[in-house]
Amino acid sequence: MKIGRWVVLMAALAAASVAAFCARPGAGAAAGAEPVIAEDSKACIDCHTQRNLSGSALRDWRLSKHAEAGVGCVACHIPPADAPKEVSRSKSVCEDPAVRRSVSSKSCAKCHPGQVSQFQSGKHALAWVAMTAMPTTKDQPQPLIEGEKACGGCHRIGRDEGKCDSCHTRHRFTAAEARRPEACQTCHMGFDHPQWEMYSTSKHGSIYAVEKNQWDWEIPLKDWFAKPADASLKTPRAPVCATCHMPEGDHGVKTAWGFLAMRLPERDAAWMKDRATILQGLNILDQKGQPTERLKVVVAGKVARLSAEEWQMERDRMAKVCVQCHTPTFAQEQLALGDEIIRHCDRLMAQAVTIVQGLYKDGVLERSKEYPPHVDLLRFYEVKYPIEQKLYVMFLEHRQRAFQGAFHMNPDYQHWYGWAEMKRDLAEIRHEAETLRAEARAQKAAGQKPALKPVGAGKIRVRREQP
Ligand code: HEC
Ligand code: HEC
Ligand code: HEC
Ligand code: HEC
Ligand code: HEC
Ligand code: HEC
Ligand code: HEC
Ligand code: HEC
Repeated sequence: MKIGRWVVLMAALAAASVAAFCARPGAGAAAGAEPVIAEDSKACIDCHTQRNLSGSALRDWRLSKHAEAGVGCVACHIPPADAPKEVSRSKSVCEDPAVRRSVSSKSCAKCHPGQVSQFQSGKHALAWVAMTAMPTTKDQPQPLIEGEKACGGCHRIGRDEGKCDSCHTRHRFTAAEARRPEACQTCHMGFDHPQWEMYSTSKHGSIYAVEKNQWDWEIPLKDWFAKPADASLKTPRAPVCATCHMPEGDHGVKTAWGFLAMRLPERDAAWMKDRATILQGLNILDQKGQPTERLKVVVAGKVARLSAEEWQMERDRMAKVCVQCHTPTFAQEQLALGDEIIRHCDRLMAQAVTIVQGLYKDGVLERSKEYPPHVDLLRFYEVKYPIEQKLYVMFLEHRQRAFQGAFHMNPDYQHWYGWAEMKRDLAEIRHEAETLRAEARAQKAAGQKPALKPVGAGKIRVRREQP
């Protein structure tokens, strides 16, 4: 009877392990559904469970619609033939040599071709390229970029042709999580793009904060406002990030003005002149107004809108969102006010660029070989003098806030953290330039070579506020 006992024991063991795999703690993606352990992924799950590896992957996958539908580990972790080489050639510590840790959107494309192609048409797909194209990215320590601890941590969304776990966190991959504005906050916050702070303290965000627990997050975006007359507290009455930026679930995010609020051409002549000065400051036009090599990067990374049609298409898409709740006139007026603010900001910015540019031209600020002979705002903080640091902060922190605050219905960001700070920057830059010129004159009169102050000698005030 020995053999019989073995059979019974093995059967009991098998039943116990199946029960362990199928246990669904808490409420699953769809109540009651059992995970389907795909044949190809059984070995992964067995070994990882036995060795107590990747508990979060096992648990969260089990709670996902993927588990319910029989989509196992292999579907994502064994790269398809067309995966980017960064993924297929990467090293892995898994005992199964075919496994890769990195997953690209190519793994999802087989089953979700629509979302993948929309994503590819939008700005998120360009995020890694845009980051690496910046002139000083290569000078940053590797953990900040490749290691994804800083720039790379946010720009990874565009790495390896798209990281789809940026809004739907792995391994649950729920749509409901991604509809929440918090799905965007880790990246869209802080110094140069505080959309989370602006939104969450706007009127739209305040309604979200008060009523979010009553809203049904399982409703697809396209059905949120389909029947405005059917009043229900389950349907959101204020927009979230995805309402405005992913209308009807469109994964191709892009706005009319974009990150730096640059479009060409500008019909108004005075504004066009200011825009040209700023484009020179960005090193996209040279000092004669001719396009530089960097224009190629701008085109490839879709950093600026280069035709009136391209800009208008995105504006119309946005206005359509607002009119689900507001009247067309109200919406157009509100958006046009944002455009006007950019014009006023550009006036201040162009003046500041011209002042600093004048210091190089007149030899008051020295330009050594490793620096371009003119203002280069895209070098960010990799500049020498306090006045250049101030110029970069004026551009990347304060100008950004002034227009982004207007578009996100946040009067305080628009004004006190944006416009008012730009005014202060310009006054300080003007004063600093006059001081530098006076010092240079005095040194020249005394027959000395100008002794320039290194970065840090001047006072740079960068305010940080909490959300
Ligand atoms: C025989 C045991 C075993 C099997 C079978 C196995 N793994 Fe692993 N896996 C490991 C071990 C061990 C590690 C390394 C853990 C560590 O030290 O970080 C690992 C690591 C991983 C990693 C992280 C890799 C990295 O480089 O960080 C992934 C992803 C992974 N496994 C997925 C899978 C998938 C998918 C399968 C099935 C196709 C699978 N594993 C099959 C043992 C196994
Ligand atoms: C729908 C796709 C998908 C499925 C299915 C999937 N994963 Fe993953 N997994 C990912 C993504 C995306 C990442 C992040 C990889 C990156 O950074 O590119 C990841 C990362 C991991 C990691 C490394 C990170 C960590 O937190 O340790 C492990 C280990 C892992 N998965 C194991 C598994 C196992 C085991 C299964 C099966 C139970 C599984 N995965 C199923 C998409 C998937
Ligand atoms: C992992 C970080 C990350 C997350 C999460 C993220 N984004 Fe982004 N987003 C970026 C980066 C980086 C860019 C800039 C890409 C580029 O232009 O090269 C960007 C660009 C954008 C743009 C384009 C702006 C333009 O230039 O026109 C929009 C709109 C946007 N994101 C909206 C969202 C929304 C809405 C969410 C949440 C549902 C979200 N993002 C989640 C990192 C992220
Ligand atoms: C907290 C996350 C985060 C960090 C850190 C970060 N970025 Fe970004 N970056 C973003 C987001 C989000 C956007 C888009 C914001 C918007 O459109 O308002 C963006 C936009 C950009 C753009 C403009 C792309 C375009 O097409 O308009 C460039 C270039 C860029 N970042 C480079 C960098 C570099 C270089 C670093 C590090 C020195 C860095 N970023 C650090 C999140 C981040
Ligand atoms: C082998 C096919 C397959 C692959 C590969 C796959 N999925 Fe899925 N995915 C599905 C199925 C099936 C569903 C469930 C559909 C449903 O219930 O409507 C699903 C559902 C989803 C959902 C919606 C879940 C919800 O809450 O409604 C998201 C988000 C998702 N997948 C993301 C991804 C991402 C990201 C990848 C790649 C990293 C991926 N999937 C890879 C088949 C796949
Ligand atoms: C910027 C955030 C963000 C990123 C990045 C993102 N998604 Fe989504 N995803 C969403 C939102 C929001 C929804 C809900 C859409 C809706 O309600 O129509 C969603 C829904 C989905 C769904 C469910 C669609 C349905 O009709 O049920 C799938 C599948 C999906 N995404 C796949 C992907 C894939 C594949 C990628 C990578 C190419 C990806 N997502 C990247 C935000 C994101
Ligand atoms: C009520 C609609 C609405 C909501 C909600 C909203 N935005 Fe925006 N967003 C806009 C408008 C309008 C613009 C400017 C569009 C243009 O250029 O015409 C914009 C622009 C942007 C840009 C480009 C740079 C900028 O700020 O001008 C990013 C990135 C962005 N939004 C991300 C987000 C994120 C992340 C959230 C949520 C935290 C969010 N938005 C919430 C309407 C909205
Ligand atoms: C889901 C519906 C919805 C959408 C979509 C929406 N809003 Fe709103 N909006 C509201 C609600 C509700 C309020 C709060 C009204 C109040 O303050 O009494 C509001 C308030 C505002 C306010 C504050 C001033 C005021 O009249 O109270 C502005 C400005 C605004 N919205 C502009 C926009 C713009 C521009 C868009 C499109 C980019 C937009 N909204 C999209 C519902 C929406």
